[in-house]
Amino acid sequence: MTTAGTEPGAGRPSLVVLISGRGSNLQTILDAIRDGRLNAKLRAVISNNPDAPGLERARRAGIPAEVVDHRNFPSRETFDAELRRHIDRHAPALVVLAGFMRILSDDFIRHFEGRLLNIHPSLLPEFPGLNTHARALAAGAREHGASVHFVTPAVDAGPVVLQARVAVEPGDTPVTLAARVLREEHRILPEAIGWFLAGRLTLSNGQALLDGRPVPATANHRNSQ
Ligand code: GRF
Repeated sequence: MTTAGTEPGAGRPSLVVLISGRGSNLQTILDAIRDGRLNAKLRAVISNNPDAPGLERARRAGIPAEVVDHRNFPSRETFDAELRRHIDRHAPALVVLAGFMRILSDDFIRHFEGRLLNIHPSLLPEFPGLNTHARALAAGAREHGASVHFVTPAVDAGPVVLQARVAVEPGDTPVTLAARVLREEHRILPEAIGWFLAGRLTLSNGQALLDGRPVPATANHRNSQ
């Protein structure tokens, strides 16, 4: 018999992942949990897009896959309120945006602030927003990469937790560059989640702290300015 107390993974720090599409970052989280590299209980995967291929990845792994379709709501606020209700039912320690392509309202973000992480395909604060790979190439960037950051109300501007850099190679296209950056995303996202769920990563007075100290990614970033 399975009760709440004996369910597999009960007692592990809990997680909800939000997606909108392919779900390759979600897959790295599923794999890391399965292989014991990430001590977490993934309570649910929620998508705003009913056709997101990532939902099938969740189902295959036996994780509840839920849809809150933004097109069924008259405003961002009503969508966000329903999304928040879905997440809160699982009472997660952490919420991860893994390719979640909706801008979230300030109320939503404040509700989850300090336990809301996003993966973004650029070296923030460079290239917030969309089409980061094409924009990095157009700008002649010699380095590009990915960032995990705490989500705060300004879009893609919350404190950076962890970054990975890749060199821009001659002949790179947005597609080749995106593929190299994605490999790095798959490395740093589970790592940052692990830090958070182990209680090592916190948001304090607008700053990301790892083991009580400003995270190295932030320090590097400052040095490079
Ligand atoms: C990733 O590049 C993520 O950084 C961006 O959207 C993409 C999602 O990929 N925000 P996937 O759905 O995780 O495969």
